[in-house]
Amino acid sequence: MGSNQKDVGILAMEIYFPPTCVQQEALEAHVGVSKGKYTIGLGQDCLAFCSELEDVISMSLTAVTSLLEKYGVDPKQIGRLEVGSETVIDKSKSIKTFLMQIFEECDNTDIEGVDSTNACYGGTAALFNVVNWVESSSWDGRYGLVVCTDSAVYAEGPARPTGGAAAIAMLIGPDAPIAFESKFRGSHMSHVYDFYKPNLASEYPVVDGKLSQTCYLMALDSCYKRLCAKYEKIQGKQFSLSDADYFVFHSPYNKLVQKSFARLCFIDFLRNASSVDEASKAKLAPFSALSSEESYASRDLEKASQTVAKSLYDEKVQPTTLIPKQVGNMYTASLYAAFASLLHNKNSSLDGKRVIMFSYGSGLSSTMFSFRLREGSHPFSLSNIATVMDVARKLESRHEVTPEKFVETMQLMEHRYGGKDFVTSKDRSLIPSGTFYLTQVDSMYRRFYSKKAGNETTTADNGTLLNGH
Ligand SMILES: CC(C)(COP(=O)(O)OP(=O)(O)OC[C@H]1O[C@@H](n2cnc3c(N)ncnc32)[C@H](O)[C@@H]1OP(=O)(O)O)[C@@H](O)C(=O)NCCC(=O)NCCS
Repeated sequence: MGSNQKDVGILAMEIYFPPTCVQQEALEAHVGVSKGKYTIGLGQDCLAFCSELEDVISMSLTAVTSLLEKYGVDPKQIGRLEVGSETVIDKSKSIKTFLMQIFEECDNTDIEGVDSTNACYGGTAALFNVVNWVESSSWDGRYGLVVCTDSAVYAEGPARPTGGAAAIAMLIGPDAPIAFESKFRGSHMSHVYDFYKPNLASEYPVVDGKLSQTCYLMALDSCYKRLCAKYEKIQGKQFSLSDADYFVFHSPYNKLVQKSFARLCFIDFLRNASSVDEASKAKLAPFSALSSEESYASRDLEKASQTVAKSLYDEKVQPTTLIPKQVGNMYTASLYAAFASLLHNKNSSLDGKRVIMFSYGSGLSSTMFSFRLREGSHPFSLSNIATVMDVARKLESRHEVTPEKFVETMQLMEHRYGGKDFVTSKDRSLIPSGTFYLTQVDSMYRRFYSKKAGNETTTADNGTLLNGH
């Protein structure tokens, strides 16, 4: 026990997203933008959202209980729990403390950790904290847990179709099938106003969409170059796109992921890396003298690099895009939902593969880091993680609602945000059994949750109560 644990990383994962969703194609027609703007222009298929029954706390209660149950982990075995979220429900009481209800039931209150917040980066900060704990001399031999939970909602306007919602729980420990290559990472942090939430009376962010795209790409460049430099120093050889099997990006919408991978191809070209063949070099040569400012603004470069990147994108990125395209931006959970898509699509062929992850949170904080995968042994194996997450069934069993119903829900949630003294709908027919839901916020703003019972087919109030007392 103690420090120097080997292959610390993710042992197990569970994902939960709301069963209510709206098709992007239907939203286009409803809003009256040109056909294809959200589906092709942003690259998004569908958007999941919380109804009045769900929020970031209920989703994380669901993800954590399901993870513990499905992998057979005793809640007493958890020694640290950290949450990443940018969805503010309370300015003081952490989401982590709500999750303690699960552990208090088993008399385990000896659990370190609270919440981390910085836009979509909080989940990565939480993950690093827990991994560092397992690698440190204060580790007591128990597992760590990381939860990323967010509901991404925007005011009416161009950003609204980039919403989404989900919670992901990850079990952390040594000898993990998803192990950190801790030395290979690069960060870029700086002060910008690209996306922020200064209005505490509203759940909606203030967003400078174009600036956020440029900040994301600048951060990507910087993190990639730093990771390459560290790799070269340690390994004594150049790092290029050929040295990793998959690239997973934080995904506000899929188009930005396409642009990001194309940008890495251009950076490899500028670094004269072996991953870029002669034909690609010829296509990118006209842009080699652009200043970096000019290069972010050049549409021609964007087109040329996307053409050059196309086949590598299909191989190394496309398998990671399923859940973000189907669910939307999940803020802190987005990057890990993209990674979950890879496990879902390729679980039987991932042994030995290297995966590069890029985490970005506006404001801004960003890190690129590396995982080394191996199949592992049951229950903590890549194939079992894919089985437990059961992504295809969860996607298929969702309920599509009309854009009108979606807008109506957004209006109700605007009205409820920061509110007290209300009970939620008794109609829980749309949420799956085993799911936690919000029942009430009382006159002192205290929130009450129940779990939908396994045999609950009616709308009767017969769930298990979690009331925090
Ligand atoms: C991304 C965002 C700026 C787009 O809003 P917008 O300015 O109305 O959209 P645009 O006019 O740029 O159109 C988006 C894309 O769709 C394309 N498009 C528009 N109509 C189209 C159509 N009918 N068919 C196909 N493509 C279309 C545009 O050409 C553009 O593509 P490009 O990015 O390759 O240029 C907006 O959704 C937003 O602010 N989202 C939140 C930002 C965010 O998540 N930031 C966090 C980053 S970490």
